[in-house]
Parts: sequence; C-alpha cells; structure tokens
Amino acid sequence: MSDGNAAWLHPEAFRPLGSRRVLVHGAGVLVDTVFDEVARACAAYGGRARRSGEAAAGPTDLAPASASAGAVNADTGPVDAAPSPAGQVDAGTVPTDADADAGPADAGSDTGVDLVLALRDAAWPGAVDGAAPGDEGFLLTRRDDVPVVLADAPAGLLYGLFHLVRLGESAFDATRPPQRHRPATALRMLDHWDNVDVHPVMGQVERGYAGGSIFWRDGAARGDRARLRHYARLLAASGVNAISVNNVNVHATEARLLTGRLGEVAEIADVLRPYGIRVHLSVTFAAPIVLGGLPTADPCDEAVRRWWAATTRRVYARIPDFGGYLVKADSEGQPGPFSYGRSHADGANVLADALAPHGGLVHWRAFVYNHHQDWRDRSTDRARAAHDHFAPLDGLFRDNVILQVKHGPVDFQPREPVSPVLAAMPATRMAVEFQVTQEYTGQQRHVCYLGPAWREVLRFAPWGPGGPSIADVAAGRRGPAGPAEDEPGRDGPGAAGPGAAGPGTDGAGAVGGGLVAVANVGDDPFWTGHPLAQANLYAFGRLAWDPERDPLAVLDEWIGLTFPASATGDPALVRETLHAVMDDSWRCYERYTAPLGVGFMVQPGDHYGPDVDGYEYSRWGTYHFADRDGVGVDRSRATGTGFTSQYPPPWSAVYESAESCPDELLLFFHHVPYDHVLHSGSTVIQHIYDTHFAGVEQVLAMRQRWRALDGVIDAAVYERVAERLDEQVRSAIEWRDQINTYFFRKSGVPDRRHRRIY
Ligand code: GCU
Repeated sequence: MSDGNAAWLHPEAFRPLGSRRVLVHGAGVLVDTVFDEVARACAAYGGRARRSGEAAAGPTDLAPASASAGAVNADTGPVDAAPSPAGQVDAGTVPTDADADAGPADAGSDTGVDLVLALRDAAWPGAVDGAAPGDEGFLLTRRDDVPVVLADAPAGLLYGLFHLVRLGESAFDATRPPQRHRPATALRMLDHWDNVDVHPVMGQVERGYAGGSIFWRDGAARGDRARLRHYARLLAASGVNAISVNNVNVHATEARLLTGRLGEVAEIADVLRPYGIRVHLSVTFAAPIVLGGLPTADPCDEAVRRWWAATTRRVYARIPDFGGYLVKADSEGQPGPFSYGRSHADGANVLADALAPHGGLVHWRAFVYNHHQDWRDRSTDRARAAHDHFAPLDGLFRDNVILQVKHGPVDFQPREPVSPVLAAMPATRMAVEFQVTQEYTGQQRHVCYLGPAWREVLRFAPWGPGGPSIADVAAGRRGPAGPAEDEPGRDGPGAAGPGAAGPGTDGAGAVGGGLVAVANVGDDPFWTGHPLAQANLYAFGRLAWDPERDPLAVLDEWIGLTFPASATGDPALVRETLHAVMDDSWRCYERYTAPLGVGFMVQPGDHYGPDVDGYEYSRWGTYHFADRDGVGVDRSRATGTGFTSQYPPPWSAVYESAESCPDELLLFFHHVPYDHVLHSGSTVIQHIYDTHFAGVEQVLAMRQRWRALDGVIDAAVYERVAERLDEQVRSAIEWRDQINTYFFRKSGVPDRRHRRIY
C-alpha cells in the first residue's frame, strides 16, 4: 500500500534488486550505505548481497569465500522504494561503450552474480568512452550479461543504486544500452526555513505547511535519527546533496548553532553524511557582535575577520565536511554590510576567506530590496533592486561565493519573468533559488505541481532562443557568446564538486552555483502536508540533476515510485488520475489567482487567499496600480521604472513593448487599459473573467477525478487529498469571486458571457 512515510522509496521498489545476487565492490562510508541498502533489500526479497573480498552471502554466490562479513542481517527490514516506468532513461545521460571492458574477467555470469555495483579501480577498471563519470556520476553497463554500475567515487555508486531502483526490472534488460549519467549541476541544495525556537509570528517553520520541523522542536533538536535517516534516503534518491538546517532569518537562538549549539548541527550531519548530503548553516552577519562580543561586524575590520576565521576553524574541527554558510544580509531586517558602508562583496568575502581553507562555500542571497517603500512613489521598483545592488559587483566575489538568486525578480510568485540578475554576472557563481514550499502557490492545501514552472525558468534563454539557458548559468556553462565547451545542460564537466573553491575554465570565467530550493517538509506523516506536494520535492531533485528532463516524465516517475503497481488496486487508473489532477495544476492555480503576471493579490502576512488591495498601500513594494481605466506595473524604459533595461537583448526589447510582451507577463511589465487586446485575442478584462471561471471549473473537475481513487489507494492518502481538494475548491471560488468582482467594480465592463459577478 502506498504509505505516506515511504514517499518515493516504497519497499516494493527494491524487489527487483533484492531478489538477485548482488556484488558491491569498493570502500568508504557511502559504499557502506550502498551495501546496507542492498543487503536489506536482499534480506527482504530473497537475494544475496556480497562485498568483494568478503564471503558469499548465500550458497549460490561465487567468488572465493573468506569470511562471513557480507552476510545479510535478517533483522533489517525492507528498505523503502518502488519501481519506475520501465525503460525510462535519466537525462544527463549519454550512451557509452563502457561495456567494452566493464570489469575483471571473473565477474561475469559464470561467477553467479546477477548485478555488480563497483567503484572503478584496478580490479574493476571499466573502459570509458569520453568523459569519466566524475564525482557523482556512474556508468550503467553490462559484463557477460550481468548489469554493472561503475562509479569513480562513492557518491556515484549511491546515485547508481537509486537509479537501479527507479529502473526496477528494466535494469536487467539484456538489450539496455550502456549509459553514463552525471548531474548537470554540482550543487543541488535544499534550504530549510526551520527555526529552533517557535517564532511568535512565523512559528517553528517559516512558511512551513507540513507541521513542525523535522530537525527542531520548541527550542531543542528533535534527535529523531530514524526519521532524519529516512529523509536523507529520500533526498539522495532524488539527487539532492546539500541542505541548510535553519531559517535564513536567523534569530537569537538559531545564531548559536554556529558556536555553542554546533554539536546539534554535527549530529544532523552525522545522519545525513552516509547519504552524501552535506550540512550548511544559515548564519547572521552580526555573529561577531551577537556571539563574539565584538563591537562591530564590519567585514573590513581585522578583529571581525579573525573571529570568522577562528569560528569557522572550530566548525570544521567538529564537522570536517561542513558545506558552508548561507546568508540573508541587508534584507527584510537582517543585518548586513550596508550598516558599515561596505558592499555585499566585502560582506560575502570575509566569510568566504574563513571558509576557503576548509573547502567551504558561502551562499549569499541576492534578495536585497527596500522593504520600507512609500507606495506613493512609483519610481522605486522592487523588481529592479537585486540587479541594481549586485550586477556592479560581478567579478568581485571570491571563487567560493555563490550568489543565490530567486528565480524571479520579486518573490516566488506563481508567474514572474526570470530574474535578470542571472544573466548579468558572468564572472560570479550563480545559484537559482526555487520555492518548493508553496508559500504563494496554495500552501500545500492546493494541488500545484511546480515541475513545469521550474522547467520554464531553467529552459529560459536570457540571451535569446538557441543560446545558453538558465540551467546552463546554474551549471557554470554560459555566457553571452554562447555555450562554452560543453553541450549545455547535459553531461558537462559537473563544474567543481560541492565545496570546491576554485573557478572552472569555461569561457565565461566562472563555475556554477547549482540549484537551491526552499524545502516543503515537516513532521507531518506525509512529510509535506498535502501528499501530492511530495512530487514537488522529488521533482526539484530530479530537475536539479537533469534540467532537460520533461517535468511530466518526472511526475510519471514519481507516481510509479509512490504508488507502485503491485500496491494499488488499479495501477492504470491511479496513473491516469494523478496525471489528470496534477499535470496542469500550476497553470490552473495561475488561472484563478492574480492575473497576467501581476502577482501579490494575497492576504498580507500569511499570503494565503485573495486580498486584491492587501499590499496596495503597504511598504513592501508589491503593487498592481489598478484604477478605473487599467491595471499593471509600467516597468518600461520609455515611461516606467526602466526594469526592462536590466535584460539583455532580445528580452529587453520584447518586454519593453506591450505589443511583444508575452500575455502571461503583460501586467508585470505594463500598465494597460482593460480593453487592451492580448495575443490570445481576448481583452484583458475578459481574460480575467474567463480564466477565473475556468480555473474554478478545473478544480471542481480535479476533485471529481480524485474520487475515482476511493478504495484504490491507501485510505489515509486518499482522505488527506480529498480533504485538501475541498479546501482548494472553496479557496478557488473565493479567489474567482473576489478578483472578478474587484475588476468589474473598477472597470464597469460586464462579462461578455453574463456569468455571475458580485
Ligand atoms: C519571502 C517570505 C519570507 C522570507 C523571504 C526570504 O518574503 O515571505 O518569509 O523570509 O521570502 O526569502 O528571505
């Protein structure tokens, strides 16, 4: 049965692997993990697990037996996981002729082994055609009819194992061609906005919609190692390799994780390490004052530099593979270098210098803007702020600084243009930040599968169609002149590994910063509150590994893993229904909420549900400027804030004109009359009415479709989703009626189709 806790690692997924004789070759913590996973699967499903150089774990195993060390512990239960649709190929994948020599001559079928997972060495050399798999990649090939996973480093073997799990039986298909898999980006990170103390306004998890934190409870570490370990398995199986464990808004207690409470971070790191996940910490820029007792946090002050260096040395003494610091500075009240008249490069570099000797990274957020704006002032534009602050600093950051940029210029709205900062800093390592937690996309009460939204961002080509994409920028393969050296988005050199401090050699002069997302997980039994929101977490990892993948194929993979065929009454119906409910759910959400990219018509504070003017006269810089004649924000060069000039051609011109601006972003870039005719042929006002009625109809249809699964899937999952769909219907109707009524009253233009507007 699909169990919310197992998520995409259902025990049944391990059956194909666990029912075979498996040899694991290599040493190290991650190889131990691989062996442990294999051994548990074999214990559950009757196979045999053996480590090279160790005794056969069963009578049919071959190879010289020397001891019983490889025997399966019958007490360990099945691992959780499930098969994926047969024959699907991971992208970031290329055919290879590695099978020409996949291992020692005694490793074929005549040795009684059905599957080998091996680190390449003298015993298992494995020929490689083209680039080697690298730190995290692997080859899936065959030797004498036996599937062989070969990796150069332990992390690659771990990812190879989870790839086998996804493939299920098809991994053993004799006709499967050899393939090399490598992640497109070296850093695939989740940021938890978890507080140690319960914050009086934001609670245990800021913008968390899945219960409490999995790390912290009411001021203390939870210490629930079993749940953390399962989380680590889920993340590794999706491809995530880094995590920050506390909120970017660093309050008093959380600041101390860096010093007095470091041990609690170390304990989390100990649990995540065997799954190849490095721990990072959000730190306050004022730490030298609040923790060190210094009179200043000025990054150019010698005592401040020494404090960061000494503190960081202590961190590495305790956590040798610590990932680094995440910093929100001069943003929404957090302290930063502006207090000392210093730049953000000065600020980031002092931390970078402290981390560099240890191989650590600074993730420095570009989310810097004036949050005390005067709504009367139409020249100040929050969308401009990150580019205004950061673009002039290109080339000034240390090599181990990653500038972490929200995908859009404002704040994770359901629809925004891609942030122009991502195209403006060729000599800086850039990470793209997504929000898996559904702050502005239904708060895990609405179904909203975000894979298609992220894919649009990742495929956006800031220098024009055919040029490098945002995924290339994140991978460090980009530049206005075109892709440097490697084919964009696929099978590249993987830049430097996480923690590597040196720049790469591509033409644009910098390696990538990878992809980052704000996590959506809590202590909820389904991990994410809404069981279908698990798909967003899974899709983030998979798209970070391979941004070229079709997000609907990723969704299909998630469905197969989470609702395995052997555990449901009617697998075809389950698959069909989930696609019907989820495939278009992001666009559906867009339909019944703020129109045409204008954003922010949400209730102030909690950001759930409609309030058209909720932010209109506030200090936050998020306005729509609706009046009786029209709506939208004029961000043109000609008559507006000039934001369009932050884009390179062709987009600077495309966005500048209301005629060429894509419909879905029209009100983000332009203030237009209600009778402005869209490319779709509809007027703006009629589009608002039509999409809002259509959105609600779609949600009603989703709820109806879901009812087909009553009795077919796990009852608890069914009920939880059904309950949330009721709320989604209620909320979508509220959105529809408020938005339509608001614009009818403003414009006085009736609906051509005479539907009910209040
Ligand atoms: C949003 C969110 C805040 C968060 C901020 C950030 O504004 O509402 O809760 O702190 O983003 O990204 O730092």
